[in-house]
Amino acid sequence: MVSFSWEVETMGEEATEALGESLASCLQAGDVLALHGELGAGKTCLVRGLARGLEVDENLVASPSFTLLNEYEGRLPLYHLDCYRLDDPEAVAELGLEDYYRGRGVLAIEWAERVPDLPEEGLEITIEWLDENRRRVRLAARGGPAERLREKFAKGGF
Ligand SMILES: Nc1ncnc2c1ncn2[C@@H]1O[C@H](COP(=O)(O)OP(=O)(O)OP(=O)(O)O)[C@@H](O)[C@H]1O
Ligand SMILES: [Mg+2]
Repeated sequence: MVSFSWEVETMGEEATEALGESLASCLQAGDVLALHGELGAGKTCLVRGLARGLEVDENLVASPSFTLLNEYEGRLPLYHLDCYRLDDPEAVAELGLEDYYRGRGVLAIEWAERVPDLPEEGLEITIEWLDENRRRVRLAARGGPAERLREKFAKGGF
């Protein structure tokens, strides 16, 4: 399976949003983005950028604190799942995520390490806190998303 990895530092939340927006151009229906990073790392910020790139009203995007999964309509639908409060694996099973894995939209998952059996193909994004305004963002893609990211880089990147 094709793989692709890259890392970048962002300075300020606007830069992380812009990265998300840029990534959106490489996404297709059925893509899964697994987001990792501590509280306040910038996962939701990146999802807001994705929303902008997918032509979803980005103002709607917040951490889905009480609902586990939010769905937004856009150029492609965006499904935003936040597993922070997920202490019960049964609750994940009830969401029927398999349908989203082959769905008509893009699934972005915060605290994705709490979801068992994520598909092998997809995009993994890890955000690391460096200082108040600086974050290191690591991308690791496999399969279709990796091919599309490679193409984007060949054409000049982000
Ligand atoms: N370079 C940066 N990238 C992203 N966020 C940044 C950056 N610099 C500062 N910030 C700030 O860090 C915070 C990131 O918050 P955000 O809600 O996106 O984090 P999160 O990873 O989703 O946290 P949680 O796990 O609580 O959902 C915001 O307050 C944002 O303004
Ligand atoms: Mg969040």
